[in-house]
Amino acid sequence: MTAAYPNLRLRRTRASAWSRALHRETVLTPADLIWPLFVTEGQGVEEPVASLPGVSRWSVEGIAKRAKEAVELGIPCVALFPNTPASRRSDDGAEALDPDNLMCRAIRAIRDACGNDIGVLTDVALDPYTSHGQDGLLDDAGYVVNDDTVAVLVDQAMNQAQAGADVIAPSDMMDGRVKAIRMALEMGGHPNVQIMAYAAKYASAFYGPFRDAVGSGGLLKGDKRSYQMDPANGEEALREVALDLAEGADSVMVKPGLAYLDVVVRVKQRFEVPVFAYQVSGEYALIEAGVAAGVGEREALVMEKLTAFKRAGCTGVLTYHAPLAARLLNG
Ligand code: PBG
Repeated sequence: MTAAYPNLRLRRTRASAWSRALHRETVLTPADLIWPLFVTEGQGVEEPVASLPGVSRWSVEGIAKRAKEAVELGIPCVALFPNTPASRRSDDGAEALDPDNLMCRAIRAIRDACGNDIGVLTDVALDPYTSHGQDGLLDDAGYVVNDDTVAVLVDQAMNQAQAGADVIAPSDMMDGRVKAIRMALEMGGHPNVQIMAYAAKYASAFYGPFRDAVGSGGLLKGDKRSYQMDPANGEEALREVALDLAEGADSVMVKPGLAYLDVVVRVKQRFEVPVFAYQVSGEYALIEAGVAAGVGEREALVMEKLTAFKRAGCTGVLTYHAPLAARLLNG
């Protein structure tokens, strides 16, 4: 601070729209957004997700259309999540390794429709494929085992890379998986495939609607606290990030979003690397519920929250509001 009132009147620069525009520190653009999409079996299928008003699961050709829409809106990347049919879920999640599974077909359909005009980010974790809804393999006591799970995740990541994924995003929180996936990509002829590590992923109560969307919610017994982080921990997030960067991650993610912006700030300041945040399903649903309850205007609520991610230092945001926000930003 160099002056005091009345020499300094901070309201001067706020007095008109041109001046507010000139002094704006943070600008959100469609290029900051990653659009998560849910894939389902069938042809011409659109299934609205009840707990995520405005979000649907699409069959493969519908996913390709959404990707084209993203390109037109200036959204640079989509993130894919499958709703695997119940008959194809198993204890070991082997469906994740099938080169013709929903994910791989969706990747190829996007590639056919959009070429390289869009990035395809794919989630690595077993929960959409397991009959128990956990992200990894269980031992007899029901504990999610680390190293055997990592071996399967490597095969899952390679399966996605072979289908044409651009960004592998491990969301499983096993120890050592980034290094194992990076080595496999290098050795397996995919040196340019990126890894965006879900580095600081918390055992959050805000994932409920997502689990409905991928169909794992009803299957999951217990919780994920033996691998996802304790929401009380910030310092530990820095250790997770340091580890994933050392293991070969190109970018890192903090998840959920808004309640963890302090973690975003700490990660950005400490590491100076690309940091993404995932505005998760429960955050989206809360905004929509607020709109329905008359709390405020959808557009204003959405833009304020997304701008907060940029202000905190995010390189980009995964958000189910991506198409709406891009439309607003494009005027
Ligand atoms: C699965 C995964 C989850 C999300 C992304 N990948 C759920 C979970 O960990 O149970 C949540 C995304 C959201 O809530 O929008 N590994």
